[in-house]
Amino acid sequence: MDNNQPKEARYSRKLEQRCKISKYKINKQYKSIQLGKQYFIRMDLLSFSCVRPHTIFSKTYYLKVMEDEVIISAFNNFKNPKYIIELKLTTQILWKIGKQNLKAFGIFYQNKIKYFEAQHSYLEQFKKMIGGRVIYRNMASFYEPIQFIGEGMSAKVFRSIEKQTNKAVAVKMIKQEFGREEQALDIVRTEVKILQSLDHPNIIKVLEVYENDQTFWIVQEFVQGTPLSEILKQKLPTEQIKMIMIGLLNTVSYLQSLRIVHRDIKPENIIVQKDSSIKVIDFGFAANLKFGSVSSVCGTPGYYAPEVLRQKESSFNSDMFSVGVVLFNLITNQPMLKSKMYKAQQYVADEEAADLLKQMLEVDPVKRFTAQQALEHPYFKGFQSINEKQDNQCSSEHQILQQQMQNNQQQQYQPKKSNKSLDAKTIKSLRTTNIIDL
Ligand SMILES: Nc1ncnc2c1ncn2[C@@H]1O[C@H](COP(=O)(O)OP(=O)(O)O)[C@@H](O)[C@H]1O
Ligand SMILES: [Mg+2]
Repeated sequence: MDNNQPKEARYSRKLEQRCKISKYKINKQYKSIQLGKQYFIRMDLLSFSCVRPHTIFSKTYYLKVMEDEVIISAFNNFKNPKYIIELKLTTQILWKIGKQNLKAFGIFYQNKIKYFEAQHSYLEQFKKMIGGRVIYRNMASFYEPIQFIGEGMSAKVFRSIEKQTNKAVAVKMIKQEFGREEQALDIVRTEVKILQSLDHPNIIKVLEVYENDQTFWIVQEFVQGTPLSEILKQKLPTEQIKMIMIGLLNTVSYLQSLRIVHRDIKPENIIVQKDSSIKVIDFGFAANLKFGSVSSVCGTPGYYAPEVLRQKESSFNSDMFSVGVVLFNLITNQPMLKSKMYKAQQYVADEEAADLLKQMLEVDPVKRFTAQQALEHPYFKGFQSINEKQDNQCSSEHQILQQQMQNNQQQQYQPKKSNKSLDAKTIKSLRTTNIIDL
């Protein structure tokens, strides 16, 4: 091989030899690898053969999952692919289930549905791999709703069971009354697209997206825990406040490193797990500042940063103001009232906590502490050792708190006769998804 060739050309040729797809695609893929700073060769992610069943004769095709698309070709060298499925949230995929397992997937092509049959193990991998990147139909074939677990402004959330694996998931149904189909799809797109680009232990993961009759459902990992809003009713030990804050600040620091603003950080959107680790949920208002500034008032009164209210613009550091309000909630067990906002530290006895609060509630977003600065504040000094001690031997205070949280969880997750149980209309909506006749 000519090693004097530019790296890209050498790379392109190598790829071309191996998969014989068009140069355009190879360059596109090289670019995406460069952009993602992933220096490993990621050719195809999955490939398998499938069959288009016909009455007279069936035709075999070869399928390959690429970074942004799935190509289906009549030739196993993938020349002249007959179908290209774009991995976008406007693409719809249908599924056929046999007696027990997946039997086929279907795509819309020239106003018709074309089905492709394949080995169920490949179809299962395929479904998981492109889950959340396209929209699926017939959700009821895959998930059984068990319990209503929460509700916010835009959605109702249900704990459901994945029928095949018995695994619990959280299914977020975007409320129909929230808007017309386009608006609902916008919320789904924002939330799913941003979540797909994130990978952090404190951030919820999206598994799949479904649609039926203009209702959208986002299937997410289920978090066994209690929303911070419920825990705030009781006084928390300082160690636990610090642990929750460190989790939250690590999350915001990660988001800030990617120039993403959550725009709705508040206790309802933070789930605290048994070990006091947290998961941040609800990215329905999130925005990526790489694509320009965001200029709409988003979030929840009481948690907005001043610049969001005044200039109607979320800045790189707007989330940190909301994190400051959460710290105030945690320490005082009180809501932040406007009258308290500019002298919040006066309500906090601990000097270090008061100072940190002051820095996070700074009006000027440029002077306001970033997440990383907050993590380095003396308030958290020495906390690691407390953390380690807790791992070995829980303090009695911590044990009491865990017990309280367990009680809360039991109360929250036990089926209730109250309005938290599934109503008939919702059950109907959950069950009458677009099941394809077999
Ligand atoms: N993945 C999840 N696991 C467990 N509970 C969840 C999950 N997602 C949401 N919830 C619960 O549902 C509530 C509403 O969900 P959220 O995504 O915040 O919807 P909204 O956009 O309407 O505010 C949350 O406050 C939380 O109690
Ligand atoms: Mg919410």
